[in-house]
Parts: sequence; structure tokens; C-alpha cells
Amino acid sequence: MSDVDAQKRAAAEAAAELVQSGMVVGLGTGSTAAWFVKALGARGLDITCVATSIATGELAASLGMKVAELGETREIDLTVDGADEIGPGLALIKGAGGALLREKLVWEASKRCVVIADAAKRVPVLGRFALPIEVVAFGHRTTALRICDALAECDIGTAPRLRLREGQPYRTDGGNVIYDAPCGRIRDPAALAAAVKSVTGVVEHGLFLDLADAALVGTPEGVTQLEP
Ligand code: 5RP
Repeated sequence: MSDVDAQKRAAAEAAAELVQSGMVVGLGTGSTAAWFVKALGARGLDITCVATSIATGELAASLGMKVAELGETREIDLTVDGADEIGPGLALIKGAGGALLREKLVWEASKRCVVIADAAKRVPVLGRFALPIEVVAFGHRTTALRICDALAECDIGTAPRLRLREGQPYRTDGGNVIYDAPCGRIRDPAALAAAVKSVTGVVEHGLFLDLADAALVGTPEGVTQLEP
């Protein structure tokens, strides 16, 4: 196992210890979240899970975990999920795995959200990672032009790139497409979030602001807990 994978796994296993029987637990998406699902499955607790993607739901079900749809359970007690970048105040960029919309729906429906990651995900300023933006497939090229204008309003002069898989537009679980916008240093994440979200055709973006309650970050020295 690589050092990075060991850090992801350590953070995920620490997060699994936060879960108790009787809880409703939100399950994130991505390689770190998959370690969490496996660690949780191994604990054999009596819990109900809400998955943020088809892939995560299938993994949880294959481990014998009870999986419900969002809205079918009482409020989610705890959601644990990965991130692509962790900035100051636990502002995050998410969405490399393409599950940002379902992730944000589940995070916003949770009493507590804990992000798990390897140490390389921490950044002093958000923006090293291109910002994923989920867009309705109908007319997405036109929407992309309007996203360009919204980025320009925030002094970000970049052209979002349509995400491809095997030469075809990547489709999310909801059937939408994703544009990745290399923003560089994001000086005002809240302003950028508002500008992008105001474009008709944008379903959601990968800026997760004021949503994470804590982070568990795997490092070569062990797992560090961060607060906003
Ligand atoms: C999926 C995500 C993931 O949480 C993010 O991409 C981190 O992935 P990984 O744990 O594989 O590094 O936002 O939409």
C-alpha cells in the first residue's frame, strides 16, 4: 500500500470509531470514503446508511450494511466523506469523483460532517485543484460560456473543461455533465460559489463552505484532527 493510501486508510479508520449503533450515517464517495465504508462494515454495528453515490451504496450493500435513500430515514447523525482540497476554516473543494451534488445534499442533511483525507489534500488557499461544476446536459456548452462570464466577474480568467470519460462527456449519477474550472488561488470562495451558482444550468459546484465540522487527516506521524 502506498503512503498516501495508508494515510487515507488511517483517517477513515479513525472516523469509523466515531460511529455508534443506532446512528444514521452518511457515506461519502471516493477512495478515502471507500476505506471508511470498509472499516465501518467490519465493525458490524446496527446502523442505517445513506450513500452519496451508486458506487458507494453498492459497496455498503455488498458488506451487508443497511442502505436507505436520502429522506427515507430520520435526520443523518454523521456524514463522513473525502475531499480534494482542505483549505483554511475547513473550506473544501470536492467532486473529483463526480458525486458532488449527492454529496452536498447528504452533507446538508446531516447533523455533523467529518472530512477524511491524506495530508496532501491540505492547502493554504483553495484553488490548486480545478473546481468541479455540475451542469445540466441540455445546452451545456452554452452554460459553460456563461460560467466563463461568472468566473470573470470574480477575476478568474479561465475556461472550464468538459470532463470526459473514454472520449465521451462524463455523466454523473444524476445524468448531468461536469466542467472542471482551473481557478488558481481562490481569494473569495463564497463570492465564487455565489457567482457560479447563479448561472442557469449549473446544478452544483464543488465548493463546500461552512459544512465540515471537523477533519481527520492522515499524516506520516498519525491522524490529526482539525476544527474549522
Ligand atoms: C467525490 C469526492 C471525493 O470525496 C474526493 O474526490 C476525494 O477522493 P479520494 O478520497 O479518492 O481522494 O469529492 O465526488
